[in-house]
Amino acid sequence: MQPVKIGLLGLGTVGGGTVNVLSRNALEITRRAGRGIEVARAFTRSPGKRRICPTEGIELVTDPWQVVEDPEIAIVVELIGGTSPALELVMRAIELGKHVVTANKALIALHGNEIFAKASEKGVMVAFEAAVAGGIPIIKVLREALAGNRIEWIAGIINGTGNFILSEMRDQGREFSDVLEEAQRLGYAEADPTFDVEGIDAAHKLTILAAIAFGIPLRFDQVYTEGITRITPEDVRYAEELGYRIKHLGIARRSGQGVELRVHPCLIPARRLLANVDGVMNAVVVRGDAVGPTLYYGPGAGAEPTASAVVADLVDVVRVMTADPENRVPHLAFQPDALSDLPLLPVGEIETAYYLRLSVADEPGVLADVARILADHGISIEAVIQKEGQAGQTAVPLIFLTHKVKESKLDEAASRIEAMPAVKAPIHRIRLETLE
Ligand code: HSE
Repeated sequence: MQPVKIGLLGLGTVGGGTVNVLSRNALEITRRAGRGIEVARAFTRSPGKRRICPTEGIELVTDPWQVVEDPEIAIVVELIGGTSPALELVMRAIELGKHVVTANKALIALHGNEIFAKASEKGVMVAFEAAVAGGIPIIKVLREALAGNRIEWIAGIINGTGNFILSEMRDQGREFSDVLEEAQRLGYAEADPTFDVEGIDAAHKLTILAAIAFGIPLRFDQVYTEGITRITPEDVRYAEELGYRIKHLGIARRSGQGVELRVHPCLIPARRLLANVDGVMNAVVVRGDAVGPTLYYGPGAGAEPTASAVVADLVDVVRVMTADPENRVPHLAFQPDALSDLPLLPVGEIETAYYLRLSVADEPGVLADVARILADHGISIEAVIQKEGQAGQTAVPLIFLTHKVKESKLDEAASRIEAMPAVKAPIHRIRLETLE
């Protein structure tokens, strides 16, 4: 049988990795897919550039439309990132009846609903395993392997750059900006690294995971998102003293009549496996009602780990491209007419425990007054430590861990505490999850 011709949009880190994996493992891939997979054309803005893969036999073009419009190409692999022109190119490919493989989480999180509707209309596949957690096959796990379960919650380290930065800050005492530069050099960070450190990249990925886990439409605009830029070395240290690690998590949870979708730094017990996931590695815990908690771990970024997911999608598409579209695995795991409209809960409604760091005057009664305000709002204290002040400073750090509380209750208590004359700075708060 003739090889399937594919076209690449983008020949950078992931594109180069994809060419290398396809060529190195060509024989194995053909045995699995039933046909060879040949990169016929690739779009690159700079054809003369030195790259990580050979380009012999690939026609390089500087106009991405020459890939999409090429009638010989059956599968378009979108690896340029961003939403424009990626969206226009993908929609056109679908319109022309081509299958699409993409690593673009922003594209799927923001425009997936319309992309999948169009793909269903045209009977083509849009595969996006590489969009979430790089090389970890988490989409396939949620969509297929756990299809017998009611998914209860997902908690994941799904941004490698953020995890790399937090790990280096903790282990090496390095500066935030210095570590970020290294992540950029290694090709982990997004083109705009604020997407990594402000949690936007993780929010894109969480949007996709939640849709597939719960059978809800993609709703990126309703994810509560907080990054890691306000985490200080002292919080990292105090968390350790209390037996916790600070990780940047994406959490999706069924809760009451709705779904919580949130991305933020979080204290988790140091003994949890997730707390020991370091560097650029990603990990996702999925709790299903039948299977219980399961953990998926692997590299979340980088050329070949991401290419591993892209190539697996290519094999999937090649295997079933001639099958009846109705019998394929649905894009978002649930049949398109069976998506549910579960409400997404506002962040004030979520219940979580808290780490609170106060800077207070070292005077009699301050600890008692803060504890009284917390008690007035029904907030129970799990632990408290007061640290010695630095020489020459009048304020001392006072750290509380609370039991679970509704966020809106904590907001009220925090406003009252911050109004106390003895409290010298806004409270530094970080959510805490035991992940039980
Ligand atoms: N910037 C992303 C990360 C790349 O650091 O995880 C993979 O999506």
